[in-house]
Amino acid sequence: MKPAVYLGNLKNPSNRGTCIRTGESFGVNLIMTNDLITNYKYSQGTSNHVIFLQLKTEKEVIDYCKKNHHKIVCIENIPEAIDIKDVNYPANPLFITGNENFGVSKLFLDNARIIVKIPQADTYCRCLNTAVACSIVMQDWFQKNKKKQIQTKQIPKGKK
Ligand SMILES: C[S@@+](CC[C@H](N)C(=O)[O-])C[C@H]1O[C@@H](n2cnc3c(N)ncnc32)[C@H](O)[C@@H]1O
Repeated sequence: MKPAVYLGNLKNPSNRGTCIRTGESFGVNLIMTNDLITNYKYSQGTSNHVIFLQLKTEKEVIDYCKKNHHKIVCIENIPEAIDIKDVNYPANPLFITGNENFGVSKLFLDNARIIVKIPQADTYCRCLNTAVACSIVMQDWFQKNKKKQIQTKQIPKGKK
């Protein structure tokens, strides 16, 4: 099973599209959402190469994960989170990044297998854009797990 991303927290379509695009590039093939929108301009066509699953509430997401052996990986800059450099990702992660205004819900944080934080410099900007944070974590997952991944893409001969 491949990793998945939950988009239901994100209000901004460009953030959603960015998460799909980056996720697909690192092997994510399942996008859980709270609505029926599956076509995102900012995904640069990658939304045609992933599976969308509509789960209307956070509880439905948690129940789906329990039944289908996905482990919730929350991305949040809170003291109890683990520094990204020390994270060992569980099998079948579902990445959940926070709403642009409100962050990740307490319900998701309480049901997370792991909470990941990305250390930042002590400067003016205290919080990353949510799609950027999600992308950094997905790249870290890919980097640490790429040897375990099954190559599914067929690259046509002659193309690099
Ligand atoms: C703009 S922030 C939301 C901040 C919100 N106002 C709050 O206080 O919870 C959007 C999301 O990006 C993610 N994020 C931003 N910076 C992060 C960091 N340094 N480490 C982990 N996640 C981060 C978190 O998921 C966060 O909820």
